[in-house]
Amino acid sequence: MTREGKQGRLVIAVDGPVGAGKSTAARLLAERLGCRYIDSGAMYRALAWKALQMNVDLQDEPCLMRLIGDTSITLEGSGDGHIVFVDGQEVSREIRTPEVEQASSNISTLASIRRVMVARQREMASQGGVVMDGRDIGTVVFPDADVKFYLEARLEERAKRRYLEARRAGVAGDLEKFTQEIEIRDARDMGRSASPLRKAEDAVTIDTTDLNVVQVVAAMENEINRRVRRSEGSA
Ligand code: DC
Repeated sequence: MTREGKQGRLVIAVDGPVGAGKSTAARLLAERLGCRYIDSGAMYRALAWKALQMNVDLQDEPCLMRLIGDTSITLEGSGDGHIVFVDGQEVSREIRTPEVEQASSNISTLASIRRVMVARQREMASQGGVVMDGRDIGTVVFPDADVKFYLEARLEERAKRRYLEARRAGVAGDLEKFTQEIEIRDARDMGRSASPLRKAEDAVTIDTTDLNVVQVVAAMENEINRRVRRSEGSA
């Protein structure tokens, strides 16, 4: 198989806290490798959106389990992200509201819901050729991923990115509020008992604080090329 062919079959895990630049970098990386990009957070958001629509109590695990069993979540690639469908209805924009973000953060603490999501994520990547980003991709979803990255950045920089993103989307808010929200989400993502966010032992850490996305993707590609060359050398 050619190197390009091999790269197109890899499973790449990208984890890290909110605002570390995972989704933009993972999407571009997938494009460069000829792989599919999967935003696992969009799946939690999609379920949260439906739960809010149906007025389901976000603490009611049995009810949420029935809901997820009855819910089809489909992600279709597009230039600047996913087109997300819930039961055939497009909800790409709806899942990006602060209410859905908050609800998805609650839902993602539930171990039984996570198990269903993980099974679906593995199924989506069963043919290989995937770059998936999230919180537990290198630790739980694909512990044997070909390459794992852990992206991080200083809190102030992550808050600034979120703030500018929100401003571009016409959402008001001040920098201090974004900083506090990120601290709360970090505490929840890293402190929950079910699959907390942590760096996989064999993940490569990239601090994106002073890097632009092109530099981040170049660092990822260098690492992937190095691994592929090494595996060719040992074959
Ligand atoms: O990455 P995001 O902000 O779109 O994720 C939405 C929520 O889902 C967030 O609270 C973290 C959670 N999540 C998770 O627990 N595990 C994942 N693999 C992806 C997202």
